[in-house]
Amino acid sequence: MTVVRIPKGQLRKGMYVESVECPQFVFSKRRFILDLDEDLDAIAAAPAEFVLVNTARSKGAMGAASSGKANGNGDAPAQVDEVKRQKAAETLTRSTAAVKTGFTGFATGDIKDIQAFAPVSRDLIESMSEGPEIVLELTRLKTKDEGTFLHSLAVGALMASVGQALGYDEATVELLGIAGILHDFGKLLIPNMILNKRGSLSDVERQIIRNHPELGYQRLVTYPDMPGMVLDVCRHHHELLDGSGYPQGLSGAALSPFVRISTICDVYDALTSTRPYKKAWSGQQAINWMFEQGHCFDRRLLLRLGEVTDGAGRG
Ligand SMILES: [Fe+2]
Ligand SMILES: [Fe+2]
Repeated sequence: MTVVRIPKGQLRKGMYVESVECPQFVFSKRRFILDLDEDLDAIAAAPAEFVLVNTARSKGAMGAASSGKANGNGDAPAQVDEVKRQKAAETLTRSTAAVKTGFTGFATGDIKDIQAFAPVSRDLIESMSEGPEIVLELTRLKTKDEGTFLHSLAVGALMASVGQALGYDEATVELLGIAGILHDFGKLLIPNMILNKRGSLSDVERQIIRNHPELGYQRLVTYPDMPGMVLDVCRHHHELLDGSGYPQGLSGAALSPFVRISTICDVYDALTSTRPYKKAWSGQQAINWMFEQGHCFDRRLLLRLGEVTDGAGRG
């Protein structure tokens, strides 16, 4: 994990700014080394509270950002939150690496045991219990290189949290986390030139991407002891209750509670994520939007998702 979200009062020259989180408009600059007074002044004047900073690209300034020292502007950072944020960031760095290794191993067939993902799921559950808003903040910025992995972690974390809120037992909650981590596994089997293509897709390319649930399922089903829930979520997470989803156009009772959880968590993360080319929605906006989509999403589960993400992704 190389991107951290810090209060703008903690900004220092030398930091690499990924984006400035303005609530109403897109800040004029993104992805730059902060070394001009005029940029510092512009950010100070902007209606933003937080800035996403890439620690890997910063010039040795992050020690000052994360040390919890006051900055001279009167913005004393909340040290407890900062410690939690650092801990969650470390967990996500570790988890991202583990998911990359696991996905590659699954794709090549070198890893066949679903338990390879259990420690990641447990870490996500623990991080969510300590501060869901921090985990979701940290996974919101999807860089091109790590976007798929951060999305997988976010969906796994959300699914496990919704499962906990519904009162599922510990083993089921852990498996929901694993199912979330693996839901887009099929995307790894699609050529990057199609998956990461900017601009419009051809009908053929769109069809190839829409085939990722089936591709993932067909690969995972060949592994012995693959839990039915993981297969179900992988294959059906783009199905919608009214039958307008894909790939099979299933509807209503044909969609298990686990699939319904995966669908809302998947859409929630997509809508609330910041990408270089789009502004993120707040968590509340995302949930409201899903509520308004006729009978596409399970509204009882949306209420649970709203509870477990309360306070996260605002702004
Ligand atoms: Fe997907
Ligand atoms: Fe997804």
